[in-house]
Amino acid sequence: MKFFIDSADVNEVREAVDWGLVDGVTTNPSLIAKTGRPYADVLRELCQTVDGPVSAEVVAREAPLMVEEGQKLARLDSKIVVKCPLTVEGLKATRALCSRAIRVNVTLIFSPLQALAAAKCGAAYVSPFVGRLDDIGQDGFTVVEQIVKIFRNYAFSTEVLVASVRSPNHLLRAAEAGAHVATLPFNVIKQILKHPLTDLGLDNFLADWHKTRQKI
Ligand code: G3P
Repeated sequence: MKFFIDSADVNEVREAVDWGLVDGVTTNPSLIAKTGRPYADVLRELCQTVDGPVSAEVVAREAPLMVEEGQKLARLDSKIVVKCPLTVEGLKATRALCSRAIRVNVTLIFSPLQALAAAKCGAAYVSPFVGRLDDIGQDGFTVVEQIVKIFRNYAFSTEVLVASVRSPNHLLRAAEAGAHVATLPFNVIKQILKHPLTDLGLDNFLADWHKTRQKI
């Protein structure tokens, strides 16, 4: 399973990459806006920071402009994966970008049929937003499980990239569902490593060791 970090903050991406857990980065227009920095500069730095794919979203609503933006984004770095929303125009842009050998991550997916449509259009990734489905009382992982099953039924190479992750439990359920990727906020990456018994156990081991007054 691949872990991506859902962030446009180069410093926190760099820290997470240093931990050896991060295989890629996803951004979205809200995360980019939060940086207050030029989009292209942020993307160039993110691509220098991580070895894997970096998702960058178009902001147009019509397919021709989405394609133009997508080509511009893709020219920044070979690691760029263009993000298009699951709309009719977004699917038209996905087909056009894929025909130009540009990888697309189709985002804002909330149903298995949306994911099926995106895979049929050649998407490299589909991003079901589990946290936002939970927010409206739906089980986002029922959708993820359905997508994984459908993709296996038809041997789609499109990868299921679980997004809108809010907790370690979301990551656990994504892994249990067989998703290819989960994109995680930095705070969730920090949480998945922590357990009180690990800290307590290490303190006790080292306290006993120091009593021996030995060195390795
Ligand atoms: O970046 C895509 C997705 O992970 C954003 O999720 O719901 O936390 O804004 P959310």
